[in-house]
Amino acid sequence: MAGDQGKLKEIVDLKSRYDFRLLVDDAHGFGTLGKTGAGAGEEQGVQDQIDLYFSTFAKSMASIGAFIAGERKIIDYIRYNIRSQIFAKSLPMPLVIGNLKRLELLRSQPQLKEKLWENALKLQQGLKERGFDIGKTDSVVTPIYMKGGVEEATAMVMDLRENYKIFCSIVVYPVIPRGHIIYRLIPTAAHTDEDIQLTLEAFTAVKEKLDAGSYKTNAIPDMADARK
Ligand SMILES: Cc1ncc(COP(=O)(O)O)c(C=O)c1O
Repeated sequence: MAGDQGKLKEIVDLKSRYDFRLLVDDAHGFGTLGKTGAGAGEEQGVQDQIDLYFSTFAKSMASIGAFIAGERKIIDYIRYNIRSQIFAKSLPMPLVIGNLKRLELLRSQPQLKEKLWENALKLQQGLKERGFDIGKTDSVVTPIYMKGGVEEATAMVMDLRENYKIFCSIVVYPVIPRGHIIYRLIPTAAHTDEDIQLTLEAFTAVKEKLDAGSYKTNAIPDMADARK
């Protein structure tokens, strides 16, 4: 949620003391972290120590589906036993072909990952300079921490979408404590410097409204003003 990488090295070190298999859900690391985009294990130099590596195709690949890599006998066990695989359809072939193409692009076009990082760091730096709390992310996942109620978060995200043309997702109670809001921005390799600038300006504007109480339910007329 916070964009900080798991402490894989420290966990791997525990393998010499305890008998366990390490499964890493690297949804946000696959395609974005490590020299070749192979993920957080590659980034932290412990890829060989991961017993089961999982990622979804729904992040860097902007698609649907997922994969798990590991020892053959475990993969076979999973294939024949997990609930989602039994009596269920497999991924439709157009998605499989699309995912293979995306994998090929991840491998053959490293400049996309470089551009993604350039954009993510510009966005993160710009947010910090404007005084936003983005925590301690060390990935392209860019959270912004704010305080407010669920209704304020909802009104603010709607204002962002309808009036500033910015899409972002929100995390609110009960996923996180009441009174806290996390906005999660998704920089991509396709964003331009202008997009980043507009995003920074939009967040500055909506944060001012949030602090002024304009997104509280009893202040909805202000929302109507914002839409004009
Ligand atoms: C860490 C992590 N694992 C798994 C998933 C699930 O991905 P999917 O959309 O393919 O179910 C997500 C999606 O947000 C995620 O963040």
